[in-house]
Amino acid sequence: MDTTTAVAPAPRVRIFDTTLRDGEQAPGCTMTLIEKLDVARQLARLRVDIIEAGFPASSPGETEAVRAIAEQVGTADGPVICGLARATTSDIETCARAIEPAVRKRIHTFLATSDVHLEHKLRMTRSAVLERVAAAVATARTFVDDVEFSPEDAGRSDPDFLCDVLRVAIEAGATTLNIPDTVGYVTPAEYGALIERICALAAQTPGIVVSTHCHDDLGLAVANSLAGVRAGARQVECTVNGIGERAGNASLEEVVMALHTRAAYFGVHTGIDTRELARTSRLVSACTGVYMPPNKAIVGANAFAHEAGIHQDGVLKHRATYEIMTPESVGIDGSALVLGKHSGRRAVRKRLADLGYELDDEQFHAVFTRFKELADRKKVIDERDLVALVSGEIDQPSARWELAQVQVACGTHAIPTATVALRGPDGEARIASATGTGPVDAVCKAVNTVTGELGELSEFTVHSVTEGINAAGQVTVRVTDYHTGRAFRGHGVHTDVITASGQAYVAALNRLLEARASHGNVLATTTAPTAEAAV
Ligand code: KIV
Ligand code: ZN
Repeated sequence: MDTTTAVAPAPRVRIFDTTLRDGEQAPGCTMTLIEKLDVARQLARLRVDIIEAGFPASSPGETEAVRAIAEQVGTADGPVICGLARATTSDIETCARAIEPAVRKRIHTFLATSDVHLEHKLRMTRSAVLERVAAAVATARTFVDDVEFSPEDAGRSDPDFLCDVLRVAIEAGATTLNIPDTVGYVTPAEYGALIERICALAAQTPGIVVSTHCHDDLGLAVANSLAGVRAGARQVECTVNGIGERAGNASLEEVVMALHTRAAYFGVHTGIDTRELARTSRLVSACTGVYMPPNKAIVGANAFAHEAGIHQDGVLKHRATYEIMTPESVGIDGSALVLGKHSGRRAVRKRLADLGYELDDEQFHAVFTRFKELADRKKVIDERDLVALVSGEIDQPSARWELAQVQVACGTHAIPTATVALRGPDGEARIASATGTGPVDAVCKAVNTVTGELGELSEFTVHSVTEGINAAGQVTVRVTDYHTGRAFRGHGVHTDVITASGQAYVAALNRLLEARASHGNVLATTTAPTAEAAV
């Protein structure tokens, strides 16, 4: 008699990454096309199932970015590429065109279902919503077989009406039902109960996937997503580092590691290569300028640090005493230490390629020059330094200002004074000095004396790339164009944070100037605006 019993494999939970859509929508998180492509490639290496690449109807630039991701990342063995569309024919058509090059593609259309949204935002009746949902999903199905529908603000919607809407979406051909807690209002028990009810409804039609989409306004996004999985959801929508509207979305790395570490409890698995989590987090931080606090779960600098004597003693005796997962399992390990001042071009190029950067010769030359400068000051260059260096150098306009030299005088009894030498797009070097409220302010003012006052420094963050006294400082600034109101980010990396600040400021001005030039804007000159405009 055969006594073996077949064990059913744990069901798969799909990871739907919306860093490039809901995440990028957050204040200060906008990325350039090249940054979006880098993040999308890294998400593919992380092996997310679906990348929501953007909201194509929101702007021509967004359409272009979604299309580029569909072309370059939406390969046969790559993730599904998804675009967001409101429930209108024109949005859905624009979305379909943008995702068209991807081998596997999805249209995600949405319409709000809560009374507060119907009454005050959409000014629509419930029956009009039902009709619009049916039409939108059916239109999307004329372009793709894979259609996701989201009833926006589902968390605050009348559950009976919500189920009516979802039935209509299924009849019209939706294959994924995503249940957004748009304003981060519900609790895990409430969300779990809602998902359970929706799973029962979806089960009447084979092949429908129920998905979670939780915001973090009450700090419950991850807990709610996991409650959804326990209740039967088989897709989780989340973002790297939890970036997103207001307090953000459910953090991808936290959801994934909870499902991974507590696999027996959740009884599911994901396809994520967890060893890519730390690298993905760093890349998204470098591209958005949003750095993680040290105590951030999974990817914070202290997430695996054991400080207390009792803890250190326990970990030395047996790691499992205080470690529920290993740093290696999320990609934090010693092998990241790779290069030094004697490393040549070939080794640096190879390491960059391993990290997924495809740089042309000009970009590589710029990164290599910065690498050598940094290696002269810092003995060991690790992966984090390289990511920081690249984020400062890629996507820089070719005709640009370059910071050749910075010198500052400051201190308790000195008036902060800076002298800068800038090489202009014409190759000429120009020197200027200025005083300011502090050394960074003085550097920015000296730069403005050369370039003209183009915008206002609206954000400034400095952060240490690695540990130790000789660590490089990474400065991220945001400069808001006085004339267009658009904000431009710039990064600088140097062991001297004042130099890094100057580099970051000049990088942001270069992007601002390029944007003005590419819009054929007559303001693309370096003429200083009037005194009133500069206030
Ligand atoms: O939070 C939300 O409701 C959304 C939808 C567009 C899915 O992001
Ligand atoms: Zn959202």
